[in-house]
Amino acid sequence: MDYDFSNKVVLVTGASAGIGEAIALLFAKLGAKLSLVGRNEANLRAVAAECEKQKGVKPLAIVADLGTDEGVQKTAKETLDHFKRLDVLVNNAAIGVATYILHDTDMQLFDDVFRINVRGVYQLTKLLAPALIETKGNIVNISSVVATMVSVGSLPYGMTKAALDHFTRLVSLELAPKGVRVNSISPGITVSEFVKRVTGFSQDQYLEFLKTFSKKIPMGEPCVGDDIARMVVHIASDHSRLVTGTVVEIDGAYRFSGPTPQSALQKK
Ligand SMILES: NC(=O)c1ccc[n+]([C@@H]2O[C@H](COP(=O)([O-])OP(=O)(O)OC[C@H]3O[C@@H](n4cnc5c(N)ncnc54)[C@H](OP(=O)(O)O)[C@@H]3O)[C@@H](O)[C@H]2O)c1
Repeated sequence: MDYDFSNKVVLVTGASAGIGEAIALLFAKLGAKLSLVGRNEANLRAVAAECEKQKGVKPLAIVADLGTDEGVQKTAKETLDHFKRLDVLVNNAAIGVATYILHDTDMQLFDDVFRINVRGVYQLTKLLAPALIETKGNIVNISSVVATMVSVGSLPYGMTKAALDHFTRLVSLELAPKGVRVNSISPGITVSEFVKRVTGFSQDQYLEFLKTFSKKIPMGEPCVGDDIARMVVHIASDHSRLVTGTVVEIDGAYRFSGPTPQSALQKK
């Protein structure tokens, strides 16, 4: 199967690191015109430069906080002003917060994780849906297996991903008659900056975490960003032309492996 995105405009949020970076790079290799979003300008520009090297197409780099109305509005406006169209929206940016109901957690953290992982996605999708209807484009939401896995210590992040998956289903039904597909891709443990940001682990502690958790993954290894990116490209392509409202899990069967040890994601 071939994938050609050379006439397509693809917006990837959270493209300055991890899975979003891998998604951006793969779309760049397939010739897409890219709009890339993140808060860390240096990282975002480095990823944009790497994307430009693939096929010589310069991405639009948008420094914006998708946890704010201004950041979301800026992202939608600059993308449409620049490209005049949108074919694929990849809602990938998210933060993690791992806590317990019995812990004394600052409610600000609860608000932050819902603002970025749910409200930002809702608002950006709302602003860009008309453009996607014009191109009969599609939306790929990056979820997580913790949306359905029940493990102590996944609050409230797991709740945001469960909300995101239901958002996928609801919006897919509304936009199906308009020719727009909406899907979730749900990674299991994937090598990135994410766990280090949640836990404050050093690189050595993170490598230890990956080693310990690989034993819990039935297929024996964590995903890398490219595993997720390849499925995003497939779902976003015409090869998936009637696929909508689905949640595709990529996790080496990790979701069947039972509860996560209580202390796994706690700050050191
Ligand atoms: N890694 C895993 O094991 C795993 C497993 C399941 C699901 N996921 C999901 O996969 C997606 C990508 O995660 P990752 O592992 O690649 O994490 P990551 O390495 O921490 O990258 C997260 C990206 O999101 C961006 N971001 C975060 N908050 C933002 C905000 N307010 N505004 C704009 N950009 C923001 C970050 O950019 P800046 O720092 O530049 O803002 C970064 O580019 C997330 O939806 C995550 O929930 C990850």
